[in-house]
Amino acid sequence: MKKRELKYRINWQDAWKEMRNERIRKLRVTYDEDFLKKSAEDFSNRYKWNDYESGRGVVNLLGDILNKDLEVLEIGPGPGTLTIPLSERVKNIVCLEASPVNIQILKRNLQEKEITNFKLINKYWEKAKIEDRFDLVICSHFLWMVEDLKKHLDRMEKFSNRYCVIVQPCGRDEVTKKAFEDICGERYTGQFEPDAEYFPYLILREWSRFVDVHYLEYSFKLNLEEGIRYIASYLGKFIEVDEQAADRIRKFLLAEVGESWMVLDKAAVMWWEPIR
Ligand SMILES: C[S@@+](CC[C@H](N)C(=O)[O-])C[C@H]1O[C@@H](n2cnc3c(N)ncnc32)[C@H](O)[C@@H]1O
Repeated sequence: MKKRELKYRINWQDAWKEMRNERIRKLRVTYDEDFLKKSAEDFSNRYKWNDYESGRGVVNLLGDILNKDLEVLEIGPGPGTLTIPLSERVKNIVCLEASPVNIQILKRNLQEKEITNFKLINKYWEKAKIEDRFDLVICSHFLWMVEDLKKHLDRMEKFSNRYCVIVQPCGRDEVTKKAFEDICGERYTGQFEPDAEYFPYLILREWSRFVDVHYLEYSFKLNLEEGIRYIASYLGKFIEVDEQAADRIRKFLLAEVGESWMVLDKAAVMWWEPIR
């Protein structure tokens, strides 16, 4: 793809690398041996909440560029947060999902909704052999998994005939940040925010792409045990979440939000057309 040459550049690579290294730290959660399995189900339930509220919000924002002729490639669909609402507005979706557990959850969620215009491929996006080009290539809540952001954007453009779309969370909710400060005893300075949506924007503008950016607010409800796992999935990168730490999280949540927690989140929805 065509990119412009610039004399002055922002060194975003080093910041990205540092932030990402913090975000992908190994998780130390020992209070429940089924933690990962339960977390995968929580993730699915969280986004199924209110009939895929967050995914529907994204689809509404994309309104103008969607139509029933579009063939879509989705990278890292997870439980179908976006796949399910999007499938109703396009011709078909090919999903590349690396996790066998998440593929099973996605299959089940698609079946529940009687959706049939999809194809699931259980492969890593970086390694998958993709023969086709798509009208739209999309990834949502995915970038923190990406080591080389430029390569990722380049690859998205390579397989797109028309649009590329990124959906990225913007920041973290206040309760999780406070839990981090109270329980880990450190000031929160964005330790788990490398989802930062401004990185792809900067790179794409450097490449002279015009990026449409819209912001979306959405919510999901967690019961106490789901809330503990949600917080543990962040704090466990900084401390060991053993029985004692899990109990501190429980007490913290009961004091802050009670038995049920409505998490308020924000995401940026960005789309652009590659220049050939
Ligand atoms: C944080 S989840 C996001 C799920 C969904 N897109 C959403 O917006 O809620 C990221 C998903 O990408 C998958 N994944 C991670 N690395 C991947 C890769 N290299 N190729 C394909 N899928 C990947 C994970 O298994 C997970 O299901």
